[in-house]
Amino acid sequence: MKVLIIGSEGMLGHDLIDILSKENEISTTTIDTLDITDIEKTIKTVKNINPDVVVHAAAFTDVDGSESNEDLAYKVNVIGTRNVAVACRKTDAALVYICTDYVFDGTKGISYRESDQTNPLSVYGKTKYLGEVCVKEILSKFYVVRTSWLYGYHGPNFITTMLNLAEKMDSISVVADQIGSPTYTVDLSKVIAELIKKPIYGTYHITNSDHCSWYEYAQEIFKIAGMNIKINPVTTEEFGSAAPRPKYSVLENYNWKMEGFPKIRSYKDALRDYMRLL
Ligand SMILES: NC(=O)c1ccc[n+]([C@@H]2O[C@H](COP(=O)([O-])OP(=O)(O)OC[C@H]3O[C@@H](n4cnc5c(N)ncnc54)[C@H](OP(=O)(O)O)[C@@H]3O)[C@@H](O)[C@H]2O)c1
Repeated sequence: MKVLIIGSEGMLGHDLIDILSKENEISTTTIDTLDITDIEKTIKTVKNINPDVVVHAAAFTDVDGSESNEDLAYKVNVIGTRNVAVACRKTDAALVYICTDYVFDGTKGISYRESDQTNPLSVYGKTKYLGEVCVKEILSKFYVVRTSWLYGYHGPNFITTMLNLAEKMDSISVVADQIGSPTYTVDLSKVIAELIKKPIYGTYHITNSDHCSWYEYAQEIFKIAGMNIKINPVTTEEFGSAAPRPKYSVLENYNWKMEGFPKIRSYKDALRDYMRLL
């Protein structure tokens, strides 16, 4: 298939290129070659490439920064996504839209299925959710892929932050009352490569299996790294971020399972693989 990856310079975008190019003909755009907030340029670019599938991995991803930059977050995550969806409609391309666990408020207390009620708490979560709404209103051929706590080689992430902090500090404070599933961008890219082979359109929760708090995640990172670092568990309130975040945003990969796909490996196994090559 012909696959266009929008946001190919991003952390996920890089791995999407590596994985999807194994079985598809790939075209890419970056913010320098296509600003998705420009509708004419977006339509023109997608028309020129005429892909079978567009994977839309571009976003304003600064969760805390979105609180004070609401208009920019809206412009990229909502208007930009609307533009990509319009371009897909005009070219009859299927769209993969990458979304987030932050569409949920985290009060359910057990893992979320795709059919569960959304209620984003933050500006980022709201704009990503509104992007989903655009996709679903404009297109019938879409895969909305909600994922969480991403890390990969091509972007700053929680693991590199922890390892960098450990070099400078004797002890690190880490939030212990937010629970989620760390997800490796390589594993997510492999799942997207499988999804787009079939017209099984709809919404998917795709994360590595099992879950942890940020504090437990940090413990696992230092265990694998063989480093003895003092980690202080703190509450969300004590840590004090600009954006509110869900306390429990574990996603159940339910639709993936119902389509008969195998269980996605645990975050601990993926983390070990990732850290081996750091
Ligand atoms: N990271 C996570 O933990 C996480 C969790 C759940 C879901 N997601 C979603 O997963 C997707 C990929 O995330 P990521 O972590 O790979 O993000 P990322 O590294 O920040 O990549 C996003 C890319 O989008 C580009 N971009 C920003 N504004 C644009 C515009 N107007 N036009 C075109 N491109 C634009 C960025 O360019 P610049 O860098 O030059 O601004 C960047 O290359 C996003 O949809 C995100 O919402 C991420």
